Amino acid sequence: MADDVRRGLTRFPKTLPPYLFYDEAGSSLYERITELPEYYLTRAEREIFVTQAAEIVDRVGRSAGGPLSVIELGAGSASKTEILLQAVLARHGRGLYLPIDVSATALAGAEARLRRSLPRLSIRSLPMTHAESLRVIADVAPPRLVLFIGSSVGNLPDGEASALLRRTREALPGETWLLLGTDLRTSPEMHRAAYDDAAGVTAAFNKNILTHINRELGGHFDIGRFRHLARWNEAASCVEMHLESVGAQEIAVDHLALRARFEAGETIHTESSVKYDLPRVARLLEAGDFRLEATYHDRARRFGLHLARARAAGR
Ligand code: TRP
Repeated sequence: MADDVRRGLTRFPKTLPPYLFYDEAGSSLYERITELPEYYLTRAEREIFVTQAAEIVDRVGRSAGGPLSVIELGAGSASKTEILLQAVLARHGRGLYLPIDVSATALAGAEARLRRSLPRLSIRSLPMTHAESLRVIADVAPPRLVLFIGSSVGNLPDGEASALLRRTREALPGETWLLLGTDLRTSPEMHRAAYDDAAGVTAAFNKNILTHINRELGGHFDIGRFRHLARWNEAASCVEMHLESVGAQEIAVDHLALRARFEAGETIHTESSVKYDLPRVARLLEAGDFRLEATYHDRARRFGLHLARARAAGR
């Protein structure tokens, strides 16, 4: 974390890595984002799970045979995943669930809830980064279904996203399926609003990254002197989140022995969220060594849940 923050605050334009959003406060702010009227993504994706989970599990089950192990990257509260896990138990009678998340609190909450609601499910929580989890998930027997939902893939540049898929695929030889959730490109106004809600929850979530740095690294950010910005980037088809410095200022980060200088109006780029069209999804999957099998939509077709299958070695 220290290295990432130092690197991000000493380059131009300044950046901070998105995983820093998800401390305890950030994870609960994110849960509130998922319920905002402007943030349609979670509702749209949940609608797809409700209407298609049985079909998805059937489709994988028909070719995969044995009970499925479900591995989830960035599981959070796992509330949508619960719908799919229910369908796995309905079809196979049992199942194994391995949620991966950097927020141990979020995982503990999800695990406690699932133990009560789905007693036949085996759960192995992995409170770590995706990279750290690869060695552990390599021991999970096929068939496996990897979940990467919530449009989290859109928070990575395309090259990093496909590299992450490829590393996952390489760690899981044999029968591996992927369920990838992506927000779909519709109207820029609607996309921007989803990241700049009227109640200011997204602004609080974005600024929490500075509070996190203050606490962990002895930073002296005054969050009253940064403004939340959500910009539509047409060329990249993404919403960019920034924190804009109100006036010129110099911020000390004690544990890094660093003083970061900001011009008035200078921004820290904290996250981008890509809005996809289908060719971009297909390219991403191909580059990650998966083949797109089917795409499921919500009724308004704002969101896509893509089912893909790992290519066999040499195919
Ligand atoms: N994966 C989510 C998305 O891109 C993450 C997210 C939602 C987010 N709201 C945010 C990230 C606001 C930063 C700021 O939609």
